[in-house]
Order: sequence, then C-alpha cells, then structure tokens
Amino acid sequence: MCGIIGYTGFRPAAPLILDGLQRLEYRGYDSAGIGLLDPSREFELHRSVGRVTSLRESFDLEKSTSHTGIGHTRWATHGKVSTENAHPHKSHYGHFLLVHNGVVENFKKIKNFLLEHGYSFYSETDTEVLVNLIEFHYRQGQVAELANFLQATQKALQDIQGTYGIAVLCRDFPDRLLAAKNSSPLLIGIGEQEYIVASDAAAIVPYTSRVVYLQDREIAFISHDELDIYTLQTKKTSITTHLIDWSPEEAQRGRYEHYMLKEIHEQPQVIANTMRGHISDDLSTTHFGGIAALLTQFHRLDRIVFCACGSAWHACLEAEYLIEHYARIPVEVEYASEFRYRNAPLSKNTLIAVVSQSGETLDTLEALLEARRKGYSVIGITNVVGSSIARETDAGVYQHAGPEIGVASTKAFTSQLCITAMLAIYLGRLRQMDYTDGTAFIQALQELPKKIEETLLLEAQISEIAQRYHHYEQFLFLGRQTMYPIALEAALKLKEIAYIQAQGYPIAEMKHGPIALVSEHCPSFVLETQAAIFPKTLSNIQEIRARHGKVILVTTSDIPSEDMEVEERITIPRTHHALQPILATIPVQFFAYHMALLRHCDVDKPRNLAKSVTVE
Ligand code: G6P
Repeated sequence: MCGIIGYTGFRPAAPLILDGLQRLEYRGYDSAGIGLLDPSREFELHRSVGRVTSLRESFDLEKSTSHTGIGHTRWATHGKVSTENAHPHKSHYGHFLLVHNGVVENFKKIKNFLLEHGYSFYSETDTEVLVNLIEFHYRQGQVAELANFLQATQKALQDIQGTYGIAVLCRDFPDRLLAAKNSSPLLIGIGEQEYIVASDAAAIVPYTSRVVYLQDREIAFISHDELDIYTLQTKKTSITTHLIDWSPEEAQRGRYEHYMLKEIHEQPQVIANTMRGHISDDLSTTHFGGIAALLTQFHRLDRIVFCACGSAWHACLEAEYLIEHYARIPVEVEYASEFRYRNAPLSKNTLIAVVSQSGETLDTLEALLEARRKGYSVIGITNVVGSSIARETDAGVYQHAGPEIGVASTKAFTSQLCITAMLAIYLGRLRQMDYTDGTAFIQALQELPKKIEETLLLEAQISEIAQRYHHYEQFLFLGRQTMYPIALEAALKLKEIAYIQAQGYPIAEMKHGPIALVSEHCPSFVLETQAAIFPKTLSNIQEIRARHGKVILVTTSDIPSEDMEVEERITIPRTHHALQPILATIPVQFFAYHMALLRHCDVDKPRNLAKSVTVE
C-alpha cells in the first residue's frame, strides 16, 4: 500500500527521502513522487510511474539544496496509475504540497465546494481535494503567518470524513513540516537537529531509534529543532517518545519473523478494508459500485462461471457453495488454464467472473480474454489496482488487502472469501433473500474483524500441535460443503511451504479412495462447523481412528464434540454460515506456517514457486 516519508533537518533532504521511499518499496506501489522546498521558497516536484529508481534518475540530486521535503509511494485507489495521480499534490495557488495515505470519503462534496470557489483540479485523486481545502482555509486567514499554516490544516481536517496519514509543506515556511493522522499509521523519528516522518518504521530506523507514534486526529508541527503536537483544536502539553529496537530489515516486517506471519496477523484489518464501502445504508445488504452497471444483467443471469488459479480457485469454489445457496444462481468453477482451451458451451446469460490476487496470472488473463472474445461480460475480483486483469474486465471489485509479499497467499485469500460471501448476499437480496436474513449477514460481517482477532489467539495452540506433527510426511484435509474448499486450501498451503504431501478431499468421499492412505503415518485434519451434519462427520472420524489415523479437528464451540476421541481439537468462534470459512482458514494457515518453520523451510519464498505466475 502507499508509503509516506517527510524530512526536515540538517541533511540534504532529497537523498534521504529517496532512500526512505526505497525502504518502503516492499509494501508494493505503482508510482512514486518527491516534493522539496528550498530556502528560497520554491517547490521542486518530481513524480513518475514505476520504480523509485526511475524517480531517482529523473533529477540531479547534487543540485538539490533543500533540507525539507516529502515523498510518497502510491498504490492506486482513487484514479488510475499515472503521473498526474502520483503524490505529492500541489494546491491550486501553489502554497502547499501534500502526500496522503487513506481515503477522503466526502471528497466529492468538498471538490464541488472548491470548484465553486475557483479551484481547479489536475488529478482524479481525493488527495488533491485535501491539499486545496487546506489552501482555501489558509487564504481565509493571515497568509504567511506560521500559526495560520497550522490552523488552516486543523480546519481542513475537521471538514473531512475518512482516513488519512499526511505530510504537508507550505511554501511560506521552508523549514516547516506538518504531519497528521487518522486510522493510517504515521510516526516521527527524532534525531539531532532533524525529524523524519514516515508511515512505516522501516524508513526511520537507519537514522534514529527514538520515535513518537502520532495518535489519531493529532497533528505534528515540526521544524529542524522543534516538535509540537496538536489535536484538531488545541496544543498537547506532553509528548511520549519510544525506542525502536528493530534492525532496518526487521522493521519492514515489523516484529514478525516472516511476511507470511505478518500477513496472517493483518487479517482483521484486511477484512475491515475489504468490506469498507460495500454495506448498504439500511444494513440489509451489500453493494458494489464497480459492478452496479451490470445490475439489470444480474436479474437475468442464469449462470456464473468463475475462473482462477491456485488459492483464488479455492475462493471461487466457496463462491459456488454460497451463491447457489443464497442466490439460487447456478455456478461453475473452472481452472482458468482449462477454461481457455475447453470451449465450454455457455448460454448467453452467463457471467464470467475471474479472481486473481495479483491481477497478472497469465492463465486467468487468457481465460478472461477468451470469454470476452466470445462476447460474455466479465467481472474481476483482484487485489492490485490497475493490474492487467483489472484493466481488461468490464467491471470489478478490488480486494483492498494491501500488498501480499509472502508467496503463499493468506490475507488475499480470506479477502477473496469475504468478497464472494458479500457477492452471494448481494445477489441473494436481488432475488429472493429477505430483509431479516440480509441484516443478520451484515451484522455478522461487521463483527468479523473482532472474531478474526479472537481466532488469531489460537496461534500458540497450533504451534504446539505442529511440534507434535512436524515429522509426518503426509496429511489428509477433509471437509464437507463450505469447509471442503478450505480443506483444499489447507492442503495447498502445507504442500507449498512445508513440502509435505497433503491432499484435500470432501470428507464423505474419503472412503472411495483416500482411506487407503489412512494409517498411523498419515494424520487427518477434519474441518467441521455445521451442527446438523456433525453426526455424519463423527462416523467419518471413527472410520479414520479405526485405522489408527490421528485426527486434528477444527470446529466451533457450540458443536458438542468434547467426548469425542480426537488427538487435537481447535475451537474457532462461531459466525454466520457464509463467513465461517474465513475463520476456519486461519488455523490451517498457522499450521502450515509452523510446520514449515519447524522443517527449516524458506517460508516466504518456497522453492519453485512464484508470487505472480505470468507464464502459461
Ligand atoms: C501462484 C501463487 C499462489 C496463487 C496463484 C494464483 O501460484 O503462488 O499463491 O494462489 O498463483 O495467483 P493470483 O495472483 O491469480 O491470485
């Protein structure tokens, strides 16, 4: 996601800011920019699409005399990937430069207000509204008075709804840097005669370990030798500093040993981000601005065909269960690589849906092009804004899961599960699902991040289980209905990162083949969260145990399985049926991670695998 850095101090600002931007690269971005303010009160602005290295090449570092500046790596949300949309953004009358992480939700209203007051806009971003709103208030006050810089920002931030981490420069004060935050991380590194503002400690730790964590709705007003912190109304009297004891390398992953572990732990926030903006005002359904134009088609639809690869294909299988159940629309799930050559007969009211974290998987892209060639509407569910799949689809939904660095998909997969569940309810409410059932889903959706947090607390138990099982060379993962795709995903995770032979299967189907593998050498994971069919699952468990197979059960607390003889029982919180697969995924992610760790595998970069497979 986007990254921010700002500097004011004794060093030349440009090299430090570029270095900081490079340290933020791991978060993923599509464009970058730097804004410098020199002592003669002139702004220098450089922005480019692509890597920070090309930004570095675009100007002569030696010539830069600025000691104050701001930089940004952008991961597109509002508006396409382009130089105009890259940050920093300059205000209409040229007083301010600003970089921003987050979303200004009421940007349209403010933009109209500013347009009426003669302001022009040069980008599609919500950020440009914010920089102009600060300028609007600045020009209402005593221009060139230092206090006016602060007050104008306070007023602008009071006017906006949404999230922000910002760093701002004002042309009239060449040694001043202003930073503020709300629900978007921002910290201030304190050096000797210098301050560094960043959205991530990675950009600060090479220079200082003393930091201040800015709190929500706080503003830091900084000069070379002074840091003051304000709320949106007044000045704060005390400032608390902290010491960071991570190396720069560790800082990128935070306190986590691997990106995969970090990404597993990010899931409460990721799911909150994924659902943001998709809940109807009356809390009875979901909506999707990106695909609303296809609404009339949804009423006529007689089939949806999902195409994807890897984990995304498992998310599609989940979509099949949920959409058929809640919306009564027949769904088929195809491996993208099979679909493109299969020439499947499809009726004219078929919608094609492609799902891809990276948006670049070649098989999925080719499947979508083949579908379009034949005249079908194609929607895309992807995590990367402006990716090839996002560009080629007729309409789509972004996951907003943030960059996923670990090769094995975790947070991107659960965010796909969240979107497919929301889609099932959306389509269900367009057809026969009633208001009450819709509200029950929305309530569960809103409670989901909290329940994911509770589920994350199971890590210690799962790591102990992994200690007991890491020497086994084969596993079965078994589940029924909505737990079946999770069994497949669990087996894939274990194969991918711990190199253990693992097979996912529908549990009752086990007796038609995989039961031949069951022995004391092949433990089975059983995922079961539905009370109504638990007695059937119990029989399957007994079949395994009769053949000396160990059983690790993932279930919910309301299922009365205490008396049952299983080796391990992992209890996850209960949630809505459509969302239960998300919670069931977390224990199997942890299991694969800890097994890989105990077997000394390279968790984040497993052998032979790539994050984004752009070959057939
Ligand atoms: C690769 C990755 C998998 C991923 C699959 C599909 O194989 O290793 O983790 O699920 O590609 O990727 P996509 O970006 O299309 O979701």
